Amino acid sequence: MNAPIGVFDSGIGGLSVLKALRAELPLEDFIYIADSGHAPYGERDDAHVLARSRALTAHLVQKNVKAVVIACNTATAAAINQLRAEYPQLPIIGVEPALKPAALLSRTRRIGVMATRSTLASSRFKLLLDSLASQAEFVLQPCDGLADAIERGIKAQAGAESATEIIAACARNIRAMGQFGLENGEIDTLVLGCTHYPFAGDHLQALVGADVTLVETGEAVARQTQRLLRAAAGSIGPAVTGPGRISLLTTGDAYTLKAAAAHWLALHEPVDLLPTRSNSLHSTPSS
Ligand code: DGL
Repeated sequence: MNAPIGVFDSGIGGLSVLKALRAELPLEDFIYIADSGHAPYGERDDAHVLARSRALTAHLVQKNVKAVVIACNTATAAAINQLRAEYPQLPIIGVEPALKPAALLSRTRRIGVMATRSTLASSRFKLLLDSLASQAEFVLQPCDGLADAIERGIKAQAGAESATEIIAACARNIRAMGQFGLENGEIDTLVLGCTHYPFAGDHLQALVGADVTLVETGEAVARQTQRLLRAAAGSIGPAVTGPGRISLLTTGDAYTLKAAAAHWLALHEPVDLLPTRSNSLHSTPSS
């Protein structure tokens, strides 16, 4: 039997990572959890995000996953070290804002970084930023409310109103970062440091102009997951002929996850509610 790969996020944003994972690992089974009942993570304290990450990982471990992908920058910053210490045998892959790839791409050496307030305030992010400080200037933008607007928007995807809210949130944040373009002193590269933001990618691109490069992390995370699975002997079952199965779970509104999976991934799986007991903030790891 081929064990599934667990993936979680505060909500539907991690679907941008699941999309890349499915493209890279089409034969694998995935269990995706949207923790919408306890979102947004980005404007909550670390203790909340850590407790939720532990509870969700414990649930995935009970389901015998062979790896966990934390498809959330905020949860990676708050919890990945702790989770790796608690599950030393389990490959745990995290997501962090793609500052390094952006530094390689940028010509003007001025890079915008959109992320949650909590990611930008984390010590993990600070270390990353410090390691690249000599290579470029990073303009950091905490995007309060943008992930939430994207969650709400999918519920009424046909409605002009929802797009209006997302566009307004994008425009506000882009304006706050300064001038975008290819001239000296302008921001020519924009890092989408939250897994929700690729789903507003078209709006962001329209606002900053076609010359500006948007950088996201889904594909790099998928490649890293594949590398780790290959390294863990026998974890890709040779007998598997695929395509892999996808289980979708949420702690919040099932319709939102169902609509998002259908809209962005052409996935039409049923969505199950994660039982309340697994939502406990006090779950402890089983190993
Ligand atoms: N998708 C999450 C991330 O990558 C954050 C969204 C939220 O604030 O809950 O950071």
